[in-house]
Amino acid sequence: MALTITYFGHAAFSLEADGTSVLIDPFITGNPLATVEAKDLSADTILLTHAHNDHVGDTIEIAKRTGATVVATFELGTWLGQQGVANTVPANHGGTVAFKGGTVKFTPAWHTSSFQTDEGFVAAGLPAGLVVRFGGKTTYFAGDTCLFLDMRLIAEEDLDVAVLPIGDHFTMGPKDALRAVEMLRAPMIIPSHYNTFPPIEQDAQAFQRDVESATASKVIPLAPGESTAL
Ligand code: NI
Ligand code: MN
Repeated sequence: MALTITYFGHAAFSLEADGTSVLIDPFITGNPLATVEAKDLSADTILLTHAHNDHVGDTIEIAKRTGATVVATFELGTWLGQQGVANTVPANHGGTVAFKGGTVKFTPAWHTSSFQTDEGFVAAGLPAGLVVRFGGKTTYFAGDTCLFLDMRLIAEEDLDVAVLPIGDHFTMGPKDALRAVEMLRAPMIIPSHYNTFPPIEQDAQAFQRDVESATASKVIPLAPGESTAL
């Protein structure tokens, strides 16, 4: 079984294995890094870390068009159901939920979680990270978060891959992401949530050098549109 991970820029990824596909935080429309259009994406499952618009992104359109099941924390999943998404699985931290081809366990993440509309903010519960077991691998999507010590517990999930934000300003930056790598001990690290907008411009190659000189982890800075198979 092979897992293919594709990066769409910002925090948007897809996972594919055995003809089954998962989208994570599919922010495509309005994402200046995206090399695809939302209308060309399909998925069996969409997993969301939190309600911010740069993570929910095109979820409603893709889910309505494809029938994808959306798995999210409770308030966000419930709100998406109210927006007409037919298949939602609202869950919460510590819970493990099965989806087609895999499972997801929600972890804590230190951040906020609201969806901005023309009428104001929709409060949509708490943000999360995701431990995704799919394609024979365990991939941790930290979501938007600062560094936190409980990443030591997440390391006990035996991660193959950790996707970590490095943009700073809204999430941890490269220095704290390096400390996260030291705690998580995943052999492969994929940086995310950087270079999308001016406040989060970062040098992923410098992050790669710093991580690979200080730890045994390898960093794969995927370009938007690029995939890696493992
Ligand atoms: Ni956010
Ligand atoms: Mn974000």
